Amino acid sequence: MKVVNVVGTRPNFMKVAPIMRAMVEDEFFQPVLLHTGQHYDRKMSKVFFEDLGMPRPDINLSVGSGTHGRQTGQVMSLFEDVVLKEKPELVLVVGDVNSTLAAALVAAKLHIPAAHVEAGLRSFDRRMPEEINRVLTDAICDFLFLTERSAFDNLAAEGIPREKAFFVGNVMIDTLTANKERAERSDILDRLALSEKTYALLTLHRPSNVDEEAPLRRIADALVRIGRKLPIVFPAHPRTAKNLAKFGLLEDLQESGVRLVEPMGYLDFLKAMLSAAVVLTDSGGLQEETTVLGVPCITLRENTERPITVQEGTNVLVGSDTERIVEEAEEAIAGGTGKPRTPELWDGKAAARILTVLKEGA
Ligand code: UD1
Repeated sequence: MKVVNVVGTRPNFMKVAPIMRAMVEDEFFQPVLLHTGQHYDRKMSKVFFEDLGMPRPDINLSVGSGTHGRQTGQVMSLFEDVVLKEKPELVLVVGDVNSTLAAALVAAKLHIPAAHVEAGLRSFDRRMPEEINRVLTDAICDFLFLTERSAFDNLAAEGIPREKAFFVGNVMIDTLTANKERAERSDILDRLALSEKTYALLTLHRPSNVDEEAPLRRIADALVRIGRKLPIVFPAHPRTAKNLAKFGLLEDLQESGVRLVEPMGYLDFLKAMLSAAVVLTDSGGLQEETTVLGVPCITLRENTERPITVQEGTNVLVGSDTERIVEEAEEAIAGGTGKPRTPELWDGKAAARILTVLKEGA
């Protein structure tokens, strides 16, 4: 079966890596790896291929940055040519970024079966670009691979037939499980002069948090207060770094003990995460990874499309309110998040389950 596996942004790479590997090892599949080029900086893209031992993409569309319409449209236009030429029997997309939706739409319009990995997650917040990408991608894909059971209800509520949905676990955790030992050996703590469990790790890039001054200032105020007690290591997304400078928030942060560093590769970041006293984030993937690692996670959002991380994991939702962020961070630092459970089927074998379903459905 010829399959085009599509990646575009940083969180896509660790989701496709185990699928790609499993397909290369199984002669039933003829995998093609396609990078849309949505993320293109070395630190946002190439370093992950190296860390994860992923083959170089067979095809790179090099679309780069742009408005949502332009970026999505460009992926569609270029990806259509690829699909017409390559004639795959399946297009596989992951996650919820613009590249995900664009590639799925092209496949659906050309009547090529499409698979969506990480389907059925819903934040119910349609102001998030990712929520639009999730809803539309699920509506047009033929195989929907679920990371948690709550997704069955979300899909049913949208009238999506049950037989399209398969609960297989979490490919991002496949990658974490496979790389944890290697990550332990990373020397990132030495390079940053940090020691185990004596710092907080922060990531921040959601448009609703960083694109406007008011929410970013509320978050920065909280970080200044937390940073005075515990150093905060902050590998900043390029867009966030730009906006912190634009709104004049950098100086206060740096004076208080928030350390802006360059985006990290996969292994360094995993090491930084498993050694952190607490993680503060607005990312989706980190809510899941901290759950499995048992590291407290304070999520700077009002909602999550990954409810199992709150119900069974270490995740607490706090939004962008200064007081709540400080309070929850203090509680987490004092050790107040309880014992997490690893969610069902987050066992490192999700990619194998996906391949089994695809073979049976072929
Ligand atoms: C995208 C995804 C988001 C995901 C995130 C992971 C969408 C709608 N958003 O957001 O869901 O959580 O990736 O990081 O698809 N930039 C660089 N270098 C790069 C890439 C981007 O400097 O390699 C800067 C550019 O200024 C660009 C901006 O970041 O304009 C935004 O990039 P974009 O790909 O549009 O979205 P992200 O914010 O990265």
